[in-house]
Amino acid sequence: MKASHLPSLIIFLAALLLSCSGDNRTFEIGVSQCSEDIWRDKFNQELRTGSYGYDGVTLHFASADDSDTRQIEQINRFVNRGVDLIIVAPNQTNTITPAIENAYRHHIPVIVYDRKSGSNHYSAYIGADNREIGRQMGNYIATRLQGRGRVVEVMGLRGSSPAIERHEGFAEALRAYPGIELAGTLQGDWTGASAERAMRRFLKREKGKIDFVFGQNDRMVMGARDAVMAHDLQSTTRFCGVDALPTHGGGLEQVRDGLLEASYIYPTHGDKVIELAMKILTHQPYEREKKLKSALVTRENANVLLLQAEEVVRQSDDLNRLHDKINDYLSRYNTQRWILMMAVVILILLVAAIFMTYRYYYERIRINEERERMQDQQLNFFTNVSHEIRTPLTLITDPINHIVNRGHLKDHDFDTLRSTARNANELMTLVSDILDFKKIEFDTAGNRIDRQENISDENVPEITETAIREADPSPDDNSETLLIVDDNADIRHYLRVVLHNRFHIIEAANGQEGLRLAREHIPVLIISDIMMPVMNGLELCQQVKGDTATSHIPVILLTAKSEDSQVAEGYKSGADSYITKPFSSAVLMARIDNIMQSREQLRRHYANLSTSVVADGVETSTAVRIDDQSQPSVRDQEFIGRLHDIIQRHMIESEFSVEVMGSEIGLSRVQLYRKVKALTGLSPVELLRKSRLNKADQLLRSTGMNISEIAYTVGFTSPSYFSKCFKDEFGIQPVELMRG
Ligand code: FRU
Repeated sequence: MKASHLPSLIIFLAALLLSCSGDNRTFEIGVSQCSEDIWRDKFNQELRTGSYGYDGVTLHFASADDSDTRQIEQINRFVNRGVDLIIVAPNQTNTITPAIENAYRHHIPVIVYDRKSGSNHYSAYIGADNREIGRQMGNYIATRLQGRGRVVEVMGLRGSSPAIERHEGFAEALRAYPGIELAGTLQGDWTGASAERAMRRFLKREKGKIDFVFGQNDRMVMGARDAVMAHDLQSTTRFCGVDALPTHGGGLEQVRDGLLEASYIYPTHGDKVIELAMKILTHQPYEREKKLKSALVTRENANVLLLQAEEVVRQSDDLNRLHDKINDYLSRYNTQRWILMMAVVILILLVAAIFMTYRYYYERIRINEERERMQDQQLNFFTNVSHEIRTPLTLITDPINHIVNRGHLKDHDFDTLRSTARNANELMTLVSDILDFKKIEFDTAGNRIDRQENISDENVPEITETAIREADPSPDDNSETLLIVDDNADIRHYLRVVLHNRFHIIEAANGQEGLRLAREHIPVLIISDIMMPVMNGLELCQQVKGDTATSHIPVILLTAKSEDSQVAEGYKSGADSYITKPFSSAVLMARIDNIMQSREQLRRHYANLSTSVVADGVETSTAVRIDDQSQPSVRDQEFIGRLHDIIQRHMIESEFSVEVMGSEIGLSRVQLYRKVKALTGLSPVELLRKSRLNKADQLLRSTGMNISEIAYTVGFTSPSYFSKCFKDEFGIQPVELMRG
């Protein structure tokens, strides 16, 4: 995963989590009320309670306080806000028509309720039949007055549809009763105060008795009643209104208490209005003109209706409490969901961060490994190339040195060769510098710093006029065998030239062949290259050191591999010496001399010790100190120990032969001879005889055995021959050592 994908991942997860919460459609509904009073409060409350039945409904309430201008502003604000639906009770029928049509143009559904609009551009109308209300009240009053009496009507706000329609219905009903006189039609504005004022004014000019006052709503008729009672405390005028609100101080109470003789339920039904709104919003079929049912309230049914209304209020309060509780739970649930979501997001971020950190480190490790691998490849390449170049260079410089140092040249030839040698040396230095890239250094200015020491002194042949070798003497027949292993024929040849006067040289072109020759001939020394086909020099060295027959043979590795790690690897394989190319034959000779001397030291040590070591198995002498380098290997010490055991076991057998000794220790005759000779300087036969005499010496000194017994015990068949040999070895007769 790339780091740039992380933000998209988080957004995706957040969206996924949010989408788990289901359908999230929300509806914004604007409610524009013409006035603010208890009837509208009840309506608003019913709307609110009704909306609880739907998810995601938000109501925005506004009241115009009986002002057309304010109501127009409010409706336009709802339109600009982009609400989904507007519910409007127009203050007057025609005045706010432009605002309703504006909403219509913006494709916002409009529900007109209670009061009508002059425009036809609305989605639905819902309200009671006001003409029918007026008619019913007219009939009621006429009936109560038994068709005879004087009646006054107080009208609601001029221009509002209920006022007009209620009046029309009322007047129409009264027309059927000729004995009923409509003594006055007063103008109010739906408020009690307006009716009280109008009635006071009316009573000032009207002197006759008024039997019944019909107020178009309960608030106005109560205002008119106040005026009548103020005018005449004994008045017998009866009153009725419209609304019959079940709330405290509403029409129902006033009818129950006898203040009003009747009222007419003007239904609020906010629940029905919200139901209609949701049908429109969710595109379900609905009635465009919906009439709400209503009924007359008199003293007979007021009490029952009040009780019912109280029950409804109680239930509605319960519902509200329940709703608040649910809201509380919901908000808690939402908070918890957010916390959970954040925890998940943080967890994902954390996992992603851990993953990226891991990737980053993994990538770094991989890059480092790759770099190391490339460096190794480079090193190998340079080593190989340097090997290729250094070898011919060695074969140029060292022979020149050789010729120069022999000193049989004319002056000008000598000078020419010296110059050739100098230039060849320079070329060697240059090649080494270039190829030995790890040692190339640069100063701060970027110039290469010359490091002459890149080629160690021992590797650069120095031309000196003092001859290091005399003219070639031919090797005599007894000269020891030296094995040269190198795949480069020139190197083999050159080494042969350098070494042939001291050693009998045998050659192999690879490690495998070299190993075969080493096992067959048991040479005194092996000089081997490392990089060779079939078997390399390191493996050859390991095999030589791991085989009893050859483990004592010193190995000199002669190679272009000059890295410290490569040298260490060479020594780990068991090499006794490591010389890097280009090499100087003088240095090589000096190394060989050292090794041979160490071996000689070792041999002398064994010559001195062998008899005691081999005879007794205990190192008792420290006559010759040997340095650490020439210590025999653990394997060779074991070999000596085993040889001792074999000799001790078979000493009594006079016919015990070198062949038996060889086969017991697992070596051929030649191998045994060369190995024993190399380690002790004695032949196996000499070693056996020395061991027998040593044992005899020990027996003579420590037991009471006679000469014959001792001679037979240590494997001699004739006591006189034993005595002769003993005298030869120790310079005294055995009888002289006998105890007692
Ligand atoms: C409430 C009210 C009611 C009346 C209705 C007519 O604002 O005045 O009393 O019945 O409006 O629209």
